[in-house]
Amino acid sequence: MPTEEITAAAAGSWTLGDRVVRRMGFGSMRTTVDPDPDRAVRVLRRAVELGVNHIDTAAFYVSPGGTLNVGTGPARYATELIRAALAPYPEDLVITTKVGFGYDPTTGLREEATPAQLRAQIEENLRRLGRDHLDVVNLRIVKRPGRDSVAESFGALAELRDAGLIRHLGLSNVRLDHLDEAQAIAPVVCVQNSYAVDNRGDQDALLRECGARGVAYVPFFALAGVRREAGAAAEHTAAVHEIARAHGATPHQVRLAWTLHQGPHVLAIPGTGDEAHLIQNIAAGALRLSAEELAALD
Ligand SMILES: NC(=O)c1ccc[n+]([C@@H]2O[C@H](COP(=O)([O-])OP(=O)(O)OC[C@H]3O[C@@H](n4cnc5c(N)ncnc54)[C@H](OP(=O)(O)O)[C@@H]3O)[C@@H](O)[C@H]2O)c1
Repeated sequence: MPTEEITAAAAGSWTLGDRVVRRMGFGSMRTTVDPDPDRAVRVLRRAVELGVNHIDTAAFYVSPGGTLNVGTGPARYATELIRAALAPYPEDLVITTKVGFGYDPTTGLREEATPAQLRAQIEENLRRLGRDHLDVVNLRIVKRPGRDSVAESFGALAELRDAGLIRHLGLSNVRLDHLDEAQAIAPVVCVQNSYAVDNRGDQDALLRECGARGVAYVPFFALAGVRREAGAAAEHTAAVHEIARAHGATPHQVRLAWTLHQGPHVLAIPGTGDEAHLIQNIAAGALRLSAEELAALD
């Protein structure tokens, strides 16, 4: 099948809380980079046309400035681009956002995780997305060993969930003890951490434990790896190159396929502002790697 005809359905589905999402999703952070918002709108619409129904975002995904600290021209918020592209929203679309940081053009991005600050961020997300509730909200924390309990912040989000502003809760940038602490307060549907074939860190055990608990594991920087905000990995291992050649795929597609092969509960959210990359990323959900290939990538 031609690459541009492969849909997100090729990667299969996962039930996030009570919502069925395709495992191939979309990360919206990069949609703010291009000063032309029409380009982002086209990419977002194409993603949904190709079957994506899980979009990751944050109110602090904004350019110029924001998490990427790039760009010129007037402010472009990913949440507002999503709204411009997709509202009225399709019934099956799940938008996952994250809180725990505030962004202000004068002060920049900073951790803001008191109950009052989280409430303000939830309201900002609702306003920019144009919704009366948020499907999934991740508490994005800064890890500080020994003094980084999530109880107060996650408890505040659990109250907003009880109030009907949030349907489901998740965590981001966390360890297993954070997951334990949060699950004692309210259900957790996903953990979103940095993870890539060449940047696994200490994530393998947490990824497996999420699977055992029925919690989705959602890697970010699966393409970027250690380059993080700087963009897609420019170098790949020999195994990635060899497997890409064997499948007539790109190394980036192999990186994405590898993450999806780590478990049925692993959801992909590759980020791009480029329509050609979007099509390649979605097609990566159709790549099937053999046990030998997976072993070579390990
Ligand atoms: N929870 C957190 O703390 C956190 C942190 C960071 C990101 N996130 C979320 O995770 C998502 C993914 O992260 P990310 O976007 O930073 O990194 P990523 O998906 O690992 O990589 C994105 C980079 O790869 C490039 N790219 C995308 N598809 C490509 C392809 N097929 N071939 C070659 N290059 C390609 C993009 O450039 P082009 O735009 O030119 O395609 C961009 O530079 C974000 O969009 C965001 O929603 C969460």
